[in-house]
Amino acid sequence: MSPHPTLPPPRTPGRYSVALVCLGNICRSPMADVVLTARVEEAGLAGRVAVVSSGTGDWHVGNPMDARAAATLTAAGYDPSLHRARHWSTAWLEEHDLVLAMDGSNLAGVGGAGERVRLFRDFDPVEPGGEVPDPYYGGDDGFEEVLTMVERTCTVIVGALQEELLQEPDES
Ligand code: 4NP
Repeated sequence: MSPHPTLPPPRTPGRYSVALVCLGNICRSPMADVVLTARVEEAGLAGRVAVVSSGTGDWHVGNPMDARAAATLTAAGYDPSLHRARHWSTAWLEEHDLVLAMDGSNLAGVGGAGERVRLFRDFDPVEPGGEVPDPYYGGDDGFEEVLTMVERTCTVIVGALQEELLQEPDES
């Protein structure tokens, strides 16, 4: 596996909480949420890893995913139907072990990088440190591009979670 950043330690040993953040919470972070949740389940970590997402803007709160994002996920075998958009809260900085922003603007929107706050694509094995481009105002190709980078990045994040949680047996 490509080298990737180490995960900050969990606040509760044996558990891990990841928050994904974009602007509207109807395209990028919901797609990453659905893919990461599926990968976590496949890895047998569903009871130990929580995945949530939100947007720094509140325009779409309570709405389902953008139809194009949902169609892209469905075509790839994922279930987008449970998503409802949520608004970012600074309280999330204290509640989650790792906050991953989709682009630099989203990172600024949550207060900037820190030990527990990073760009999602810091874990991208192909182009680490890049941004997930906002597909909202573009065509369907943009959603395919987002899914491709989200899938490979989620694979690395789940590998890192497995490493972390194998070191910390579930104590509950
Ligand atoms: P997202 O995309 O941040 O990936 O969910 C957007 C969705 C909606 C808007 C902007 C970006 N908007 O301006 O409504």
